[in-house]
Amino acid sequence: MKVLVVGSGGREHALLWKLSQSPEVDALYCAPGNGGIGQLAELVDIGAEDLEALAEFAETKDVDLTIVGPEGTLAKGIVDVFEKRGLRIFGPTKAAARLESSKAFAKNLMKKYHVPTAGFAVFDDPQAARAYVRQLGAPIVVKADGLCGGKGTIIASTLSEALGAIDLLMEDRIFKQAGERIVVEEKLEGEEASFLVITDGTTAVPLAAAQDHKRLLDHDKGPNTGGMGAYAPAPVVTEAVAKQVMEHVIQPTLKGLVAEGIAFKGVLYAGLIITAEGPKVLEFNVRFGDPELQAILPLLKDDLVPLLDDAVEGRLSQPRCRWEEGACACVVLASGGYPGEFAIGKEIKGLEAFQDRQDVVVFHAGTRRERDRVISWGGRVLNVVAWDADLEAAVKKVYDAVSGIQFEGMTYRKDIAWRALKKPVSK
Ligand code: AMP
Ligand code: GLY
Repeated sequence: MKVLVVGSGGREHALLWKLSQSPEVDALYCAPGNGGIGQLAELVDIGAEDLEALAEFAETKDVDLTIVGPEGTLAKGIVDVFEKRGLRIFGPTKAAARLESSKAFAKNLMKKYHVPTAGFAVFDDPQAARAYVRQLGAPIVVKADGLCGGKGTIIASTLSEALGAIDLLMEDRIFKQAGERIVVEEKLEGEEASFLVITDGTTAVPLAAAQDHKRLLDHDKGPNTGGMGAYAPAPVVTEAVAKQVMEHVIQPTLKGLVAEGIAFKGVLYAGLIITAEGPKVLEFNVRFGDPELQAILPLLKDDLVPLLDDAVEGRLSQPRCRWEEGACACVVLASGGYPGEFAIGKEIKGLEAFQDRQDVVVFHAGTRRERDRVISWGGRVLNVVAWDADLEAAVKKVYDAVSGIQFEGMTYRKDIAWRALKKPVSK
């Protein structure tokens, strides 16, 4: 089978690493890829949102299956473009991707099909939004409706912050059309977890639950980022919680989509908060989590290809995946200054030591290969991933590995998995 992966981050590198272990795969392509992915797949110089060129490539090369990483590509409708040409692709259509690309759509669907989530209201008019937050008071959460690379949510602890957030999104349009419409919602309390299933629209196969670390600094301080690390499995998602999520979140959402006439296939990712009243949905995504997937895939015993293939064909029957015992931790190494301004082009040293390791792998995110050097080429540069018999051992191993890698300005969190370990981990 010839497989094309679309995207260029650590998530896509992890996908290709897993796919490269499949006996079903004869050829791997990645568009556009990065400095690490080139070791596993042929890099294709087509942007992740150049849908027609991607389809043209898949057709010319007789690609059997395309797997899409980033949400922007799905929201633009890559699946519709491919399916129109009879090309097989894993991911939701543009209409189904609205579950991620419109928070108002997702919230209204959850309300209609009784999926537990924060109480909310949707606004197109800033005046009405201001009146609503004045009435409810702070703390309150203000969210842009559209895709903002994970930056469109503002948790306001005072009324003036909430009013300021409405101005930023709706008047100043800091996220352009993504903020034309906003969702204002109740602030929930609890520990968060990422619960991903692979689905053909009716059957859903859950992956190991993971926990992301969105804030830049230790102890969940500093600005939000694309994710500074992750681990799996997340003990906050006990078997009982997982069962509740399948019954009260995943199944009603899939049924709701069917009832609305929207076929969904791909990854349904529920961003959960485990409140005193049980798990509630903070957001839905329609693709694999980054960096969650980097911590999930090393634990997956099964071949990923038949699973994704069955989802595409609508014949998913596997009730659950088989997992390695133990745990996996992922630490993101970022450029100094990220998520603000940062410099790129810094030489990365120490990567050779991990070429043949069986329990540590370095997935590349923002990197480039220049002759025999690897240089930084983005905000999040590398994902160092290690697995072991338990989380404590995996975390120790991952930080040992991190200490062997250097580039100028490299920064990372030193407390990945602290909630599960119940104490800050210091290196
Ligand atoms: P979202 O963009 O909806 O994924 O939100 C980003 C982050 O904001 C989440 O991971 C939470 O940490 C936080 N958040 C979002 N909605 C709420 C809420 N209703 N209550 C508390 N925290 C929230
Ligand atoms: N790790 C968060 C995300 O993939 O959206």
